[in-house]
Amino acid sequence: MTDKNMTSLTIRRPDDWHLHLRDGAMLQAVLPETARHFGRAIIMPNLVPPVVTAAQAVDYRERIMAALPGDMTFKPLMTLYLTEETDPDDVAAAHASGIATAVKLYPAGATTNSASGVRDFEKVRPVLERMADIGMPLCIHGEVTDGDIDIFDREAVFIDKVLRPLRKKVPDLRIIMEHVTTQDAVDYVRDTHKNLAATITTHHLIINRNHILVGGIKPHFYCLPVAKREGHRIALVQAAVSGDKRFFLGTDSAPHTDPLKLQACGCAGIFTAPNTMSCLAEVFNAAGALPKLEAFASLNGPRFYGLAPNEATITLTKGDPVAYPTHIDTPDGPVTVFDPGFDLHWSVTSN
Ligand code: DOR
Ligand code: ZN
Repeated sequence: MTDKNMTSLTIRRPDDWHLHLRDGAMLQAVLPETARHFGRAIIMPNLVPPVVTAAQAVDYRERIMAALPGDMTFKPLMTLYLTEETDPDDVAAAHASGIATAVKLYPAGATTNSASGVRDFEKVRPVLERMADIGMPLCIHGEVTDGDIDIFDREAVFIDKVLRPLRKKVPDLRIIMEHVTTQDAVDYVRDTHKNLAATITTHHLIINRNHILVGGIKPHFYCLPVAKREGHRIALVQAAVSGDKRFFLGTDSAPHTDPLKLQACGCAGIFTAPNTMSCLAEVFNAAGALPKLEAFASLNGPRFYGLAPNEATITLTKGDPVAYPTHIDTPDGPVTVFDPGFDLHWSVTSN
């Protein structure tokens, strides 16, 4: 049987290495969508106000666990939002106590709720050096924010202007370049043999910039970093299906209500939590690479983070198209679920 003819696949339960759960009613509504299929997730700290201190991370983790339905098991892995005021001792203490798995670096102004992020990278160097000493990973939103850099070039420019110099100055820092969208990022990670990995989202494996702009603007395909040309998408698929241990899944599932997406200045973010595993099975199956899905979704991530893979498994089964809801309801309004533009034949069962 060739890979393309497979009809069933059992893999270790996957983890999501980049997830936005928000807070309050939205958290309550979206958390089950991830916990249904995923064992753990790296939780983004870009709340308002952001999760900066260990105490805030403890509180947020409690709110997440309180929102988890009683019949579900899920482990949130918390991150601290890096600011220019972050104290290296606080970060080290948060790591030692187990509350913070990683630190998140947003260049100031790069995306949703990133205003408290980093403007001057030299100012956070003491924190980064301490993290390198203690082996704590840094998750990076890799886009420059300069107004004169084209939005489609911001990731590639970040690699040259920020990431290369930073990695020279703090070579022992373990870095995850998050939600990579370009051939440039894939090449950079492939050419680097130490302390660097990248996450790839579900949607960037499926859409290119035409999906956003051709035939009318599609706000539900708008996210940051914005999807690039088709050639870049193909490079991402090749990286994801390659089995290369440096690439793993971080969905960047980022719920916003429809009123916030569908307005003159719509929010960036695509909500992929409900159907991510079915979408990925289609992508990997089409590439003749289904047996590599486990590495991408369930093995490479824990390996980079120094954790064991989940013991539990899920089974993906191919059959008639699976009907996922088009949106989920929240008290603040509906949240539209990512529409990949093709039928999803793979259903997911937790074992
Ligand atoms: O599209 C995005 N949405 N990209 C980000 O970096 C942030 C996220 C959000 O929080 O909505
Ligand atoms: Zn994100």
